[in-house]
Amino acid sequence: MVRVQVPATTANLGPGFDCLGMALQLYNSVEMSLTSSSGLYIEVQGEGSPDIPRNENNMVYQAALRVFKMVGNKPAGLRLKLINNIPIARGLGSSSAAIAGGMIAANILSGNTLTHKEIINLAHGMEGHPDNLAAAVLGGIVVAVSTEGEIRFQKIPPPKNLRTVVAIPDFTLSTRTAREALPQQIPLSDAAFNLGRVALLVAALFTGDINQFGPAMEDRLHQPYRTSLVPGMKKVFAAAKLAGAKGVALSGAGPAIIAYTDDNVELIARVMRETFRQNGISAKSLILGISPVGARALEIK
Ligand code: HSE
Repeated sequence: MVRVQVPATTANLGPGFDCLGMALQLYNSVEMSLTSSSGLYIEVQGEGSPDIPRNENNMVYQAALRVFKMVGNKPAGLRLKLINNIPIARGLGSSSAAIAGGMIAANILSGNTLTHKEIINLAHGMEGHPDNLAAAVLGGIVVAVSTEGEIRFQKIPPPKNLRTVVAIPDFTLSTRTAREALPQQIPLSDAAFNLGRVALLVAALFTGDINQFGPAMEDRLHQPYRTSLVPGMKKVFAAAKLAGAKGVALSGAGPAIIAYTDDNVELIARVMRETFRQNGISAKSLILGISPVGARALEIK
């Protein structure tokens, strides 16, 4: 038996569409046991539990299966106990957590044959973009890009005292829908706008200069096209900044909105929640630190 803890993640951090990810201190737990009798037994508790498949379609199971196939392990049967704290389809990496959790657990039960790099590459085949996944596997802040044939990644040490406030609306938004809202082509001026911001953001993260986050987190590649999918989005951004947030971004594909700060977390949490409510959306706010660790075993028996 292995019990793996896997973090929630936020992707993009504003301008870093599909290439920047950050792990947050909110965790799912994946307990996996090989059984001698055949069959698949899945128990699910917590976020999304009524809707999560208990059969071969379960994403944790599908991810585990890919690892077992790759390393040539053929378990007779499998038992999974999933305890979910990461809200589903809100932009906090619940599917990456399922994939990373399933793969890391299966890899440990197979004798730790695969490296993190191999797991990220295998997982990318299921998710299609590496930003959440790399952060879920490695923890911290990660730059990850898909090059020909493999994912290249680099960790960035998180600035000291950096905290986040995540406002999570009470509705789901699938990544697919949020990606379908994006145009196939964008003007060169918008590409240049994002290049400058993402370079400034990476430099600011490395030097810990979070006062750069305001301009560094601006984006013209995806957020403007997703505004209509998240009622009150612009107002929540403005309210968070007014309450002292250094930078604000849509968390991944949304609908959650994430503010970055080193102070005023309670006030920022309250105004983000209330601004959503004023726009007819009930929401909760979580104050979350950055998880320095990615998916890892907490118990092995
Ligand atoms: N980079 C992705 C997007 C994250 O914005 O669509 C979603 O998981």
